[in-house]
Amino acid sequence: MSTEPGTGFVAIEGARYRYGAAGPAILDDVDWQIPRGEIHCLIGRSGSGKTTLLKLAAGLLLPTEGAIRIGGKGLSGPSPHAGFVFQSPTLLEWLSALDNVLLPLSLKRRPTAADRETALDQLARVGLADLAARRPGELSGGQQSRVAVARALIDNPDLLLLDEPFAALDALTREELQDDLLRLCALNGTTALFVTHDITEAVYLADKVAVMADGRLAHARRIELARPRHRDMRYAPAFAAACRELRDAMDGVSALNERPAA
Ligand SMILES: Nc1ncnc2c1ncn2[C@@H]1O[C@H](COP(=O)(O)OP(=O)(O)OP(=O)(O)O)[C@@H](O)[C@H]1O
Ligand SMILES: [Mg+2]
Repeated sequence: MSTEPGTGFVAIEGARYRYGAAGPAILDDVDWQIPRGEIHCLIGRSGSGKTTLLKLAAGLLLPTEGAIRIGGKGLSGPSPHAGFVFQSPTLLEWLSALDNVLLPLSLKRRPTAADRETALDQLARVGLADLAARRPGELSGGQQSRVAVARALIDNPDLLLLDEPFAALDALTREELQDDLLRLCALNGTTALFVTHDITEAVYLADKVAVMADGRLAHARRIELARPRHRDMRYAPAFAAACRELRDAMDGVSALNERPAA
């Protein structure tokens, strides 16, 4: 799959990746453009290469071939523009929620009173203002995920990269966090790339959903639902149609609109 060159705030161009010189191709000729302010979701079976692609977009891994550009600039190391939410919340057990949110700043400098205010603000935005002093072990799974999202947003990143951040949560909490995320991205104009196994989550969040299979982008579809998204949209025929098409693509069936007429 390819999109017009040069249109993306995030531009992934002919990216290939191998873990080790002799290893198999994990990503194979991936082209993808994400315009500034859009949310794109990546779905696909376990082991298809989603986390690997996300790490390339963050500059945590460098492509074996091809290029990754953020805002027109080639990445040669961890991107200063990106916030990352990992597949598990990865909070530091010995730090309070507030200090976990502050961590990206603490790694650069001694946090100021203003930084602490910003971190508190960020926690308030994810509904955790009252729990800032708690350690991760004293928080529920959903609350830990919220702290991880607040931490990724503390530096006001232009790009948010999220790797199945809500996978371990119950359906209702997940839907609440999806709405939180959409609100925060809209507020800051944040561009996001979100990996999930959950097709309905992808359709609800995304401007565009891509399906990865064996290291290639096998299918992509724009989601034409209006913004802001709201819960009732989950029951709209257009929502079901998008889910169905993506499900077929994941099953290896060609997209409905690409099938020859019967
Ligand atoms: N550090 C590594 N060294 C060697 N191979 C790896 C490494 N990390 C991942 N792989 C392999 O690369 C492939 C893609 O892994 P990746 O983590 O990108 O998949 P994924 O789509 O995120 O899967 P999941 O949905 O299970 O998280 C898998 O076959 C995996 O075993
Ligand atoms: Mg993964």
